[in-house]
Parts: sequence; structure tokens; C-alpha cells
Amino acid sequence: MGKYRGGSTTVLKPKTTQQVSQIMKWCNEKRIGVVPQGGNTGLVGGSVPIRDEVIVSLSNLNSVRSFDPISGILVADAGCILQSLTDYIAPHNHIMPIDLGAKGSCQIGGNVATNAGGLRLLRYGSLHGTVLGLEVVLPDGTVLDQLTTLRKDNTGYDLKQLFIGAEGTLGVITGVSILTPPAPQASNNVILALPSFDNVLPLYKIVKRQLSEILSAFEFIDRTSYDLAVKHGQGRALSEDEVAGAECFVLVETSGGKREHDEEKLNNLLESLLEVDTPLINTGVLSQSPAQFSSLWALREGVTEAVSKEGKPYKYDISVPLSSFKTVVDATREHLRSKGLLGDGAVKHVLGYGHVGDGNLHLNIVADSYTPEIQTALEPFIFEIVASYRGSISAEHGIGAMKTHALHYSKSDVSIALMKKIKMLFDPHNIMNPGKVLE
Ligand code: FAD
Ligand code: MLT
Ligand code: ZN
Repeated sequence: MGKYRGGSTTVLKPKTTQQVSQIMKWCNEKRIGVVPQGGNTGLVGGSVPIRDEVIVSLSNLNSVRSFDPISGILVADAGCILQSLTDYIAPHNHIMPIDLGAKGSCQIGGNVATNAGGLRLLRYGSLHGTVLGLEVVLPDGTVLDQLTTLRKDNTGYDLKQLFIGAEGTLGVITGVSILTPPAPQASNNVILALPSFDNVLPLYKIVKRQLSEILSAFEFIDRTSYDLAVKHGQGRALSEDEVAGAECFVLVETSGGKREHDEEKLNNLLESLLEVDTPLINTGVLSQSPAQFSSLWALREGVTEAVSKEGKPYKYDISVPLSSFKTVVDATREHLRSKGLLGDGAVKHVLGYGHVGDGNLHLNIVADSYTPEIQTALEPFIFEIVASYRGSISAEHGIGAMKTHALHYSKSDVSIALMKKIKMLFDPHNIMNPGKVLE
């Protein structure tokens, strides 16, 4: 995004857990700040130093340690790139339980550190469930070896959970043990064009009921997101007829055991959606080949890249009730208009997309440049709306450097005080990713 810039002079690229341990011990003794860095794809500035911290890049710690094709349990170094792990287990007919647009660059350690959600959470749940064990180097260099491969282990506090989503503020993750599901025998997708956002909720209800166990994704992009994705060459554009009158789109994916059965279910769904007096959708475009399947996904996954090509994005990643997605986007647009920032102003677009099935909206504001006027107009405005719904100001991207000041909109004073105590316990000299998550 080009939004965050630190002043580090040094990047260290350890090749072993032992080397990470030596680095941490040294930095702890000298009180040198450390920023763990994975693929550097995070969207809240968490992997970027604030001052002159040492960067510890995990990119050279990138071997698969073991894979058991019977249980599907994969144990890998934290620096393994998500796509490489997907490729590694594919011949064994397994898939990673997590998938996201940044898969070609992000690392499994970074995914765990951010507790990334992504496109498969609806089906396979969060990393808090699929991660079975972690190896972590603590700020003083101690290696916490919890790299177990057990499905069940109720022996007291589950310490690994603390590092999932800690964004590198409690320790450096060096190894991950994760449960990978069997690859579905068949995957299909369809993009549905809707005349109105109001139809998304009733549509979700019908899709869930009709597709039941084979539904694996229900992703939403509004019209502006679609137009930007197409403008910047992400995926295959639909025909003019197909997009005519569409206010938004929903991408539905199925993953099941039998192609004919799944196709029949999808076709029946489309028929039942279209053959009523007032259809919820204008049209549905079913992928007919693996290339079309990927191309439909590219429309959705490519929105992130498209907004960055279009201008400077202000990215808000919020959890609010699904029924309020449109209200939030519209209210933000109107607010910016009332401040004279939209239209002829510096803001080009206000758009929404995201993981409807998880209640997670990505509200993006694309501007010509990052300016204090836009920043002041957006915050605390957006955080206050989110808090009014008791929502989350960060559904899946984390707090990083971007939202430390806003944590209180989603966490009580009691929770923040406990978080500070935990931080103190693990990192009394505050050398682990200083200035991130907690102020
Ligand atoms: P980095 O960006 O390098 O680091 C992220 C944070 O984790 C930093 O605080 C860093 O200090 C810490 N960290 C990294 N590695 C370690 C480690 N080994 N030990 C301790 N701390 C560590 N996120 C979602 O949740 N869902 C999505 O669908 C999604 N889609 C994305 C699509 C695109 C195109 C992009 C660019 C980003 C997307 N993201 C998404 C953001 C997401 O947080 C990251 O892509 C990913 O999880 C971060 O992994 P990384 O290896 O790049 O970590
Ligand atoms: C997504 O769902 O596409 C990602 O979280 C990235 C983004 O918010 O742009
Ligand atoms: Zn997302």
C-alpha cells in the first residue's frame, strides 16, 4: 500500500530455530526491538518497523518437516509460502484449510501470526481450530516447543492460542503443525448478479439450505469492486447483458464428493432462483472449465490488487451484522460527500466486498493520495459505526500499526488490561514488534 515506512538498517534471515533463538537472546540483552517479517503482505503495517528495529525475516526457514497423508497433519517451518504448502500436499489429495489472495507471497507463520481468515473459513473454520501445534521463540530466546500433532490435548492452558493472532508481539513463530483437509473430489463456482444488496441475505439463506454440505464459499463484491477488478485486469469480465442492472455480485463455490451430484445441485439452485415471479438474482454465470473457475475467483481475489492500482486505499476490515453491510458503505460515502471529499474531492471510490458468510465486510476508500483530511473524516467515524453494532474494527487483518489507537472500540478496558499483562509476562522489555497491537 506504500502507507507504512520504517527506518531499519538491518534484516536478519536465520536458517534455523536455533539461530532465531540466538538473535532473540542477543536483542533481549541489548534491548533491541525486533520485527518478525513473513511475506510482508499484511494490510495493517504489522510487519513494518516503526523506528529502527531489526527485521527478522523468516524466508530462509522454509522446509516442510513432515506430512502424514493418513491424518493430513502437516508440520512446516514458519517461512514456508502458503502456495508452496498447497503444492506440496496436492499430490496426497489434501488442501490447506486456509486460502487467500496473497497465497503466492504470504507465509504460514504470517498467516498464523495474523490469524488470517480468508476464503475457506466458512468451510474449514479459523486457524484457532486447525493449528494443532506451534514452535515459538520467546523474546528472551527460550524455545517453546508445542509442535504437537495431537487432535486432542486438554492438559491445562492451551498456550499456542496466544500466539495465533498476536501479530509477532509475543514471540517469533518458527514452526507450525496444521490439520489439512482432504481435497474435495469436485469444485464448482458460480457468480450471481443481484439487482439489489437487499437480496444478499435472503439469497444466503436459500443457498445455504439448498447447497448445504457442499457450500464452501459465499463471497460478496459490490458493483464498484467488480468494475475496478475488471478495469485492472483481474479475471474475466462478464458480458454487458450479464452485468446490466447489477448492484452487487455473490461468488458461490461448492466443494463436494461427486461432480454430477454437485452440478445438479447448483443447476437446481439456479433454476429455483430464476424461475420465480420476483427473482433475487438477475443472472448466474456458472464456470464451465478449470480456467473459468479460476477466472471467476480472480474477480473476487483481485479486488485488493485492483484498488491498489486505482489509487491509495484506506482499508477497513470490519465485522458487523450482515444486514448492515450496505448501510455502513452508504453512510461512509455520504459522510465523505458531506465533507466535500467525494465527487470532485480527493476520494475516488467507496467500495465494499468481503466474506459475507463470516459477517466480514472490507470497506475500502480509494483516494488519490493519503491525506490528513481524509484520515480525519474516516476516523473515528467508521470505528464509531462499528462500535454501535458491537462489531469488530478488525475482523481478520489484525491491529498492526494501523489500529492500536482504536482497540478500545472493540475491546473492553478489562480485556486491554489483561492483554497488557500477558504482553508484560512474555516480553517485559517490549522488544517484540514494539508499537504494534498495543500502544
Ligand atoms: P507479514 O505481512 O510479513 O506479517 C504480518 C504480521 O505477522 C506482522 O505483525 C508480523 O510481525 C507478524 N509475523 C509474520 N511472520 C511471523 C512469524 N513467523 N512469527 C511471529 N510473527 C510473525 N488476510 C486475511 O485474513 N484474509 C484474506 O482473505 C486476506 N487476503 C489478502 C489478499 C491480499 C492480496 C493481500 C495482499 C493480503 C491479504 N490478507 C488477508 C492479509 C493477511 O494478513 C496476510 O496476507 C497474511 O496472513 C500475512 O502473512 P505474511 O507472511 O505476509 O505476514
Ligand atoms: C480479501 O478478502 O480480499 C482480503 O482480506 C484482502 C483485502 O481486504 O483487500
Ligand atoms: Zn478478506
